[in-house]
Amino acid sequence: MNCDDSCPTLQRDDDSILILDQTALPHQRTFVRLANLADAARAIRTMQVRGAPLIGATAAFGMALALGERTDDASLDAALADLAATRPTAVNLHWALGRMAKRLRPLAPSARREAAWAEAEAIQKEDAAQNAAIGRHGLPLIAEIASRRPGPVRVMTHCNAGWLATCGHGTALAPVYAAQAAGIPLLVWVSETRPRNQGLLTAWELAQSGIPFRLIADNAAGHLLSQGAVDLVITGADRVAANGDTANKIGTYLKALAAQDQGVPFYIAAPGSTLDFSCPNGAAIPIEDRTADEVLVIPGLTPTDQPGEIRLAAAGTPVANPAFDVTPARLITALITERGLVTLDRLGGLYPERNP
Ligand code: MRU
Repeated sequence: MNCDDSCPTLQRDDDSILILDQTALPHQRTFVRLANLADAARAIRTMQVRGAPLIGATAAFGMALALGERTDDASLDAALADLAATRPTAVNLHWALGRMAKRLRPLAPSARREAAWAEAEAIQKEDAAQNAAIGRHGLPLIAEIASRRPGPVRVMTHCNAGWLATCGHGTALAPVYAAQAAGIPLLVWVSETRPRNQGLLTAWELAQSGIPFRLIADNAAGHLLSQGAVDLVITGADRVAANGDTANKIGTYLKALAAQDQGVPFYIAAPGSTLDFSCPNGAAIPIEDRTADEVLVIPGLTPTDQPGEIRLAAAGTPVANPAFDVTPARLITALITERGLVTLDRLGGLYPERNP
């Protein structure tokens, strides 16, 4: 399965939504039906859907599901508030809800339901188109390295920012898929991304596409960078502040630091919906704290291939589990957006209509 035709992460099915349950991957491919607001909020909160753009699209469809129940002003506002409270860091969620509110509030309640479905579908389509554009704009970075020397271009990524995280080909992986389509040999370093192990999703995606990769422990990244084994790093983003500071999955900052130290270019790939010009800098980005169990317990398959869990630490072990970190703009070589490549000091110029 890949996302060449219709994207399987999120599909409308009459008046409900079918999502690929990412908590069951990579071992089981299970689709879950979201029929109402509570289903959509739960899917986002529990990370059955995840990745900033996909969270945004799911929230938009969550509004359409909510309006299937009630369409009055109070219900509209309550649904917006419920969905906004699901996850704090990925700004795409708040961007999508803001767009839905702007479209729906001025309408008569009777017109809101259909309009909500149409707007959510527009957000989904636009995200897919933006993924493709990010791929086109990122491709020359990989092609240039391929033209300089023989052998595969070695790309390091973190977390999952492929088609599972979006409505199209992904953000960080879009240039990788574009390079594969252009016939460029590749090797992708995939860090496991403890504690939720989104790297396993990236490995699953790349395996299906036939792109060579190596799954690595998170702690191996600095060593590989220091050995000259990485040509460029590309990650996605959950929120880019006005000054270019960028929140992404926990562990991204360490990769950026090591890349800077080794002179390896470090790119962020993200669409306009991930930019937050109302947020002045990284210190103002809310960082999600998640439950201790994510650190203490590892889900997987038992030796008899049954889904199971391993408890890693002694009972009562205290835990801190920040889910994201902020990479300062100074460590980021450039942002790959659907409008092109931009250094972080020129971000506002690329989106003049959004500049405060
Ligand atoms: O907690 P998650 O899995 O939703 O976090 C996802 C990430 O951090 C991704 O790198 C980011 O959202 C970019 S997805 C295209």
